[in-house]
Amino acid sequence: MNTLVIGSQWGDEGKGKVIDFLTESADFVVRSQGGSNAGHTVIAHGKKYVLHLVPSGILWSGKVNVIGNGVVINPASLVEEIAYLRGLGVQISPENLLLSDRAHVVLPIHKLLDAAQEEALGANKIGTTKQGIGPTYADKVRRIGIRMADLSDPAHLREVLSARIVTANEELNRLGHPAADMQECLADVMQAADILRPHITDTIPVLNKAIRSGKNVLFEGAQGAMLDIDFGTYPFVTSSNTSAGGCCTGSGVPPTGIDKIIGVCKAYTTRVGSGPFVTEDADIADYLHGLGREFGATTGRPRRCGWADGVVLRFSAMFNGFDEMAMTNLDGLDACEEIKICTAYKLGDRTLDVPPALISDWEQCKPVYETLPGWKQDTTKCTSWDQLPANCRAYLKRFGEIIGCPVGSVGVGPDREQTITIPR
Ligand code: IMP
Repeated sequence: MNTLVIGSQWGDEGKGKVIDFLTESADFVVRSQGGSNAGHTVIAHGKKYVLHLVPSGILWSGKVNVIGNGVVINPASLVEEIAYLRGLGVQISPENLLLSDRAHVVLPIHKLLDAAQEEALGANKIGTTKQGIGPTYADKVRRIGIRMADLSDPAHLREVLSARIVTANEELNRLGHPAADMQECLADVMQAADILRPHITDTIPVLNKAIRSGKNVLFEGAQGAMLDIDFGTYPFVTSSNTSAGGCCTGSGVPPTGIDKIIGVCKAYTTRVGSGPFVTEDADIADYLHGLGREFGATTGRPRRCGWADGVVLRFSAMFNGFDEMAMTNLDGLDACEEIKICTAYKLGDRTLDVPPALISDWEQCKPVYETLPGWKQDTTKCTSWDQLPANCRAYLKRFGEIIGCPVGSVGVGPDREQTITIPR
C-alpha cells in the first residue's frame, strides 16, 4: 500500500503526527517537493524531533528514506540536520538516506537572493522563509540550476558553482545588495558535498522497484496545498507543487503507483506569511492564542487564525483527490460556544463554491458561514467515536458534507493515542 499525506490548507496542519502513525508500516518514506522551508515536528519513541529535509522514517530502523528529485536541497543545511539527528542517537547511512541525483541544489546565493527579492517587494512581500527556495526553483525553470549529480566531481562542481555565483552577484548588485563572498560560498557547498556524496544516487529505479516488489511507500508532503505554485493563493505561495501531482513529478513514481491520498486539515484554519485568508477572524485568533496554541514551532510567532474554510477544503479535496481527511486539533474548539464553517464565498453579487484565480478577487471575497452549536466539553480523553459529544460528531459529519470528502480520523491532542478513527 502506497500512501500520500498532504497538508490541505496552508501548512502546519499537524501532518507529523499522521505521518508518524503511518511510518510504522512503511518500508520507504519519501519527500518529493519543498526544501528546508518545511519544519516537521515528529514525536517518536517518546522524543521530539524537528525535521526539515530528512524524511521522518529516519527515526525508525530498517526504513529507507528518499529525498526525491522534486526537492531542493541545501547541502550545508542537510549536513547540519544529519549532525543534529546523529547527536540524538539516530543512525544515518547511505543505506537509509538516499538523495536523488536530479534534485536541485540550494546555494548560499539563493538565500541572499530570496532576502533581497523580498526586501525589494516592500509591503507586497510574500513572507517567505528566506531559505532560498523560490530562487532555487527559479533556476531550475530557467535551466541554469545545479543538481545533486553535479556534486559528484569536485572540479566540475567548483566550475559550475563559480559561474553561478558570478551571475548571482550581478543580480544582487542590481537589487542594491552586497555581493556574496566567492570563497565562502564555494567552501559552504564543496565541504557539504564531500559528506553527502555517498548518499547521492538515481532514486527513481529504486522507488519503482520497491513498488513493483510490494514494499509499502509513504510519501510525505511538505507545506500545504494552498501554497501550491499552481493551485494556491498565487503569488502568495511557495515555489513547488505541494499538491498530489507534485508527488509524482517529484519522485518519478507514476500516478498509478499511489494507492491512497490522505489530506490533513485542522478543525479551523491557520496561515503564516502574507496572502488572502477569507475566514481570518480576530476573535478565534485571540481565543486560540489565549490557549497557548498556534505559535510557530521554530519562530514562536503567532499564526494567523480563522474558522474552517469549506471553499478552500472543497477545492483542495478536488485537485488532490483525497480519499479521506485526517483532522487535527479538534480539541482546540472544545470551549467554543458556536462553531462556524465557511460554505461559500460572496464576491460582489456572485456566490463561489471554489476560490477565484485572481488574487485581487480572492482578497475581496467574504465568507458565507454555517453556524453549528459547540460541544463545550473536553474531548482530549475521548478514545472512540461514540465517546465524542453529539454536537462534535454532528460537526465532523457536516464538515465532510461541506467539503465533499469524509473525515476519516480526528486528533484530540498531541499524543499518538489521542486519535479517533471515524466509522464510515
Ligand atoms: P517559501 O516557501 O520560503 O518561498 O515561502 C513562501 C510562502 O510559503 C510563505 O508564506 C511561507 O510562510 C510559506 N511556507 C513555506 N514553508 C512553509 C511551511 O512548512 N509551513 C507553513 N508555511 C510555509
